[in-house]
Amino acid sequence: MATGRGQRGAGGPPPGAAARALAARVLTDVSFGGARSGDALSAALRERPPRDPRDAGLATELVYGVLRQQRRLDHTLAPLVRQGLGALEPLAQVLLRIGAYQLVFLDRVHAGAAVSSTQDAARVLGAGRITGLLNGVLRKVAERGERLPTGDDDASVGVRWSLPDWLVSPLREAVGAAALEANASALRERAPNTVRPNLSRGGAEAAVSALAAEGFTAEPGPHGSLVVSGPGDPFATAAFRDGLITPQDPASLHVVELLGDLRGVRVLDLCAGRGVKSTAMADRGARVLALDVVAEKLASANSLAERLGVADRLETRVADAADPALELGSFDRVLVDAPCTGVGTIRRHPEIAWRREPADVGRSVELQARLLAAAAGHLAPGGELVYAVCSFIRAEGGGPTPEGLVEQGDATLLAPVDGVDAFQVRRFRRPA
Ligand SMILES: C[S@@+](CC[C@H](N)C(=O)[O-])C[C@H]1O[C@@H](n2cnc3c(N)ncnc32)[C@H](O)[C@@H]1O
Repeated sequence: MATGRGQRGAGGPPPGAAARALAARVLTDVSFGGARSGDALSAALRERPPRDPRDAGLATELVYGVLRQQRRLDHTLAPLVRQGLGALEPLAQVLLRIGAYQLVFLDRVHAGAAVSSTQDAARVLGAGRITGLLNGVLRKVAERGERLPTGDDDASVGVRWSLPDWLVSPLREAVGAAALEANASALRERAPNTVRPNLSRGGAEAAVSALAAEGFTAEPGPHGSLVVSGPGDPFATAAFRDGLITPQDPASLHVVELLGDLRGVRVLDLCAGRGVKSTAMADRGARVLALDVVAEKLASANSLAERLGVADRLETRVADAADPALELGSFDRVLVDAPCTGVGTIRRHPEIAWRREPADVGRSVELQARLLAAAAGHLAPGGELVYAVCSFIRAEGGGPTPEGLVEQGDATLLAPVDGVDAFQVRRFRRPA
């Protein structure tokens, strides 16, 4: 409940406090409650739609900005909190990050307003008790600014680009020392809204004109994607509802491209999830058998296929694709879009950087090796298998060539510096 200065009777909270309070609720759920940023933000905006639409924009900026810059913000805040930043209650940690983010990254917010609106947000959230702490620490941030380390070691690079140390060396290994900072910086960019125009609904031309009719601009992006910008949410449009566009990163589209001409081809998609790639393949004329261990994901894949008008080309089955005894017949193309740490997608899901730990890599690599070995058993002579992970960690893209297959060319790394999610992709062929 609002208390003290935050209470404005019928007028509601003071200007700007609503956006900060909404962001603080979402960040508490994500950073301390395990929620996914996209889900938590959409739910909060649905449940408490801000009166001023600009507040929705600011809250979104604060949520994603704080999650992206969390380590860098904590580096600035930690020396200023006597009892230790981690010892503070979650809401205090989150509001300090929100305040510091405005001071460091948002030129448009005056320092005084950044501090006072963050205090107002605390009052709106019933935490008037921490306004003194917020005031004391944030004023020091405003005075001192940031003091970032300048070295090339993992810890210094990690602070500058707000990555955990353990992710810096795999990134260095993947892209080379000379390109490390450019790629680390690109990983910290906000990803644009990229979509796949669906051929079954008229392709790029139809998508561009439908989006234009609703005030959006769609420019050609890499790998056949469209980059959409304009007023509000492009996924709240008729173009989306009618299946003309599907959100998809260009790197993910490239994985589908690598499977070649799919017209009339039988494809086995062993880790289909919610069917982004399965439906892309069906949209290109493939007949797809899509497997996943999670039934609920396959139900989403089926709804997506219905919306896009390709349901007659998609069959789904709940199964463990790592089971070598699985009888499925043989296919001209097999896709293993393997479960992985997902660290290549931290532009879109920034909390992944703080949730994963080095032990996840070993677990992931073990499952990936079993999936790839089992996948090879479903490939017909002359057929091709594509293996992909949305991770730049070499071990996740590595692993031996499955027995009986020949690797085609080198493994490809799609690098963040090219404005795409980081993926590693390999192609194999079974000789005819
Ligand atoms: C990277 S995601 C797939 C994304 C999906 N291909 C898309 O483009 O929308 C990996 C998927 O593998 C599934 N998975 C994990 N272990 C599996 C297994 N043993 N067999 C089949 N699917 C599995 C997960 O449930 C998850 O949906």
